[in-house]
Amino acid sequence: MSGLNLELLFREKEQFHFNASLPAPLCFKKTIFTMYARNALYKMGKSLAKNEKRKVVLVPAYSCGDEIASLVGAGLEIRPYEITDNFQVNLSDLFARKDKETLAIMVTHFLSIPSVNIFEIKEFARKNKIFLIENCAHVFDAKLKNVHLGEIGDFSVFSIRKFLPLPHGGALVINNPSLEKPTFTLPPNEAVMFDFLVYLERQLNIFSLGTTIDKIYKNFGIKIKNKHGQRLEKWGGYELSLSNFSKNLIMRMEIKEIMKKRREVFSFYTDFSRLLIVSDLRPSLPLSPTKLIQFFIL
Ligand SMILES: Cc1ncc(COP(=O)(O)O)c(C=O)c1O
Repeated sequence: MSGLNLELLFREKEQFHFNASLPAPLCFKKTIFTMYARNALYKMGKSLAKNEKRKVVLVPAYSCGDEIASLVGAGLEIRPYEITDNFQVNLSDLFARKDKETLAIMVTHFLSIPSVNIFEIKEFARKNKIFLIENCAHVFDAKLKNVHLGEIGDFSVFSIRKFLPLPHGGALVINNPSLEKPTFTLPPNEAVMFDFLVYLERQLNIFSLGTTIDKIYKNFGIKIKNKHGQRLEKWGGYELSLSNFSKNLIMRMEIKEIMKKRREVFSFYTDFSRLLIVSDLRPSLPLSPTKLIQFFIL
């Protein structure tokens, strides 16, 4: 892995407005690109927790786990609120869970389906001096009432590797000017190469679908703590920004084509989902939690 230095190869292109062709708010100059969405959550979580007695973040009871682990890692406590069968916030449940310990609310637009009550939640948060974290990990090119998802919360995070062919990629959009901009450091070549190899293995179907990250890593002789975990902790973990390599990939992508394809896929799934018996979905997070995780138990 040491022969080819992807980061060095793409270094000079660093200063380009590489994100110009992405949909809003990802195309904005102010958008900060990170290696993963969780990096942004961790750093912003740390900065929210600083000088604050309140530590509780109200989080959706459906979760992938990494977004929760990063908030907990930042020193925050989490308290889940209910999500309805159609991926919406149960407003009365959420509002009832707020108390004087509540510092923030995280709202997730699951599978890019807008959380339609988010403006009401924003108003509730504003009145109660609570921060609103908008989790756009699954969002690409989506709007609600003519506002781009990602522009509503005090800040929002995206996991761009979920919808673009990239080895890694997250983004942070800060909408509340009173929030400090965190800094991230470029990943070392080893980290970039490693993610790239894992990505290629997946693209080439070397590992069967559903193989967890820890098993892939094991193949390279590396042991990591859990199957979702903070897999680059050795190389900087939550501190890492998007690599120059990935920025260059973004610059070369046919973003409009990708957006078109995603819209088609999204409407296929929304049609299909009408046939699903959604009452089979149960929250993965117990509502009085100490333990967490994973999206759905089907
Ligand atoms: C809702 C949600 N938030 C955050 C994340 C974390 O994204 P990343 O893997 O880019 O850190 C994920 C997925 O992994 C997710 O599904």
